[in-house]
Amino acid sequence: MRHHRLKKAPPAPKQLRLAAFSILFEPLKQHKGRVIAAILTLFLTAFVVLAAGWGIRQFIDEGLITGDRRRLDWALLILTGTTLFIAFCSYLRSYLVSWLGEAVIGSLRRKVFEHLLHMDVSFFDENRPGELTARLTTDTNLMQLIVGASFSVAMRNFLLMIGGIVMMFLTSPKLTLYTLVLIPFILIPLLTFGNKIRHYSKENQRCLAHISGFFEETFSHIKTVQGYGHEAREAQYLRELSKESFQITVKRILARSTLVCLVMLLAFCGVNFVLWCGGQDVIDGVLSPGALSAFLFYAVLAASSAGSFSELYGDLQRTVGAAERLLSLLSLPKRVDGTRALPSNPRGIIAIHNVTFAYPTHPQKPVVENFTLSVAPGEKIAIVGLSGSGKSTIFSMLMKFYAPQSGSIFIEGLNLKELKSDEVRRYFAMVGHDAPLFSATLYENILYAQPDATPAEINYAIHCARLDDVIAKLPHGLKTYIGTKGTRLSAGQKQRVALARAILHNPTVLLLDEATNALDAENEALVQKSIYDFMSTRTTLVIAHSLTTVLQCDRIVVMHDGKIEAVGTHAELMEQEGSYRRFAKHQLQPQVSKIKRVS
Ligand SMILES: Nc1ncnc2c1ncn2[C@@H]1O[C@H](COP(=O)(O)OP(=O)(O)OP(=O)(O)O)[C@@H](O)[C@H]1O
Ligand SMILES: [Mg+2]
Repeated sequence: MRHHRLKKAPPAPKQLRLAAFSILFEPLKQHKGRVIAAILTLFLTAFVVLAAGWGIRQFIDEGLITGDRRRLDWALLILTGTTLFIAFCSYLRSYLVSWLGEAVIGSLRRKVFEHLLHMDVSFFDENRPGELTARLTTDTNLMQLIVGASFSVAMRNFLLMIGGIVMMFLTSPKLTLYTLVLIPFILIPLLTFGNKIRHYSKENQRCLAHISGFFEETFSHIKTVQGYGHEAREAQYLRELSKESFQITVKRILARSTLVCLVMLLAFCGVNFVLWCGGQDVIDGVLSPGALSAFLFYAVLAASSAGSFSELYGDLQRTVGAAERLLSLLSLPKRVDGTRALPSNPRGIIAIHNVTFAYPTHPQKPVVENFTLSVAPGEKIAIVGLSGSGKSTIFSMLMKFYAPQSGSIFIEGLNLKELKSDEVRRYFAMVGHDAPLFSATLYENILYAQPDATPAEINYAIHCARLDDVIAKLPHGLKTYIGTKGTRLSAGQKQRVALARAILHNPTVLLLDEATNALDAENEALVQKSIYDFMSTRTTLVIAHSLTTVLQCDRIVVMHDGKIEAVGTHAELMEQEGSYRRFAKHQLQPQVSKIKRVS
């Protein structure tokens, strides 16, 4: 099975850390006007709703009991006006708050995305792309729930609850005191179930992110999945994953429903009790019937507001997990970058001095050890060595994707560590063997290196990479859409597109990592011939498994287990006993005849 089992999330912290919602402040600040307007409508609605209680009291005591029909008419008019006003305010609030929800979540998502774009490459070694995608989609959507609904409902209910209690107090202090005694009983379930709900939400989000990662991987490797007849097993694995997620969700729903039920039950039992006490007061003549009605109105208002708080608390529990995860992504330290710039006319000088490096995921296992190499301007260096000997790792360090643990790398005499990454990446262009292309047209893929390239530059790059024939055969030429990751091209065509892209980048130093290994020998030799012009004006480092390439270089570096075994020309290395001679022996006969054929 290729699946690694679900990682258990660390235990959820005990308290609800509302501080995580601070990530919403900054995006909210950008829309101050709307936030203030939304809060204003909230206050207005709450105020008017509370005033309605007073209206009810007037309606009963002055209208019903005195039997004055004109007062009844007035009361009706006022109540209708109030209702209209409440409806209008609710409309406004709903619009403003939903608008804010969309806007804030959009900018939060952009912020996290931008932050991740600048993360060190090693971060992506540890985090699956699919899981990060889930963070950016499901977690931000959860946050939208808070901004776009829950928060304003919570605030309205808070106002109604406080206002309701104040009005209750003004109407009948004695009955209010009875009611307040009941409040702690409501808080107990709120706190106990709340933590449970949050724990389950976090677990569930973790499962969902894992499922997203699984989908992404399965679909991007669909040929491997189908090729090994794994459809049923993948489906079964999803069933297992979904089962776990479903079980957790059920537990969460159960905890939440119990919470709502308990809070409602306690609140309304309290109201019933208070009604009974109030009834006694009315019979005794201490309280007017209108005042009791108003008191009940306020009590129901305050109780239902408190009741819905429990639901909101559940929402908060659910989203605080998302907020914490987004916050933890945002608070990941960005790559520490250098500040220095390269000279304006770089020549292509590289010095690697005693570099030792281990990948952060395996810090105990150095893959490059005491690597020292100086490259002169215009020199062509071949790096050969067995698979896994650390060749590509050297390129990754030159590109500043990873920093050496010890030793230093200098380009143009300047320490790579102190240089700005942008500068380093303008200086180099790397072509790997996997030719990563984007789902866009061929033209857009080539232009990726330099969006403002002139047609002459583009044509030159296309010609150098021997793409002319490929383009001529495509249905829409350069404007042909090449599919997700370039799947509509052959492996060799993809490599040539990647090569054209690197040529268009016009680097000082070209790094070719088996850049033509998917090409047939004839095309490989043709490409090499045509980019020779390009290479002759700049320094080139080539990782190669084919002798054709190696033979065109000035010097050859032989790597073995992360160390340099030997450096020299082909002739020099052939003199020595070592892995180069074995390498050449395996390659020599067929390759040399091919070179002759092409040239
Ligand atoms: N991102 C990574 N995280 C952890 N270890 C890695 C990573 N990339 C490579 N390695 C390890 O580093 C070692 C050197 O890898 P590298 O890709 O440099 O080899 P290579 O010489 O380019 O091999 P090949 O010829 O197969 O491309 C390997 O043992 C590999 O397992
Ligand atoms: Mg490699």
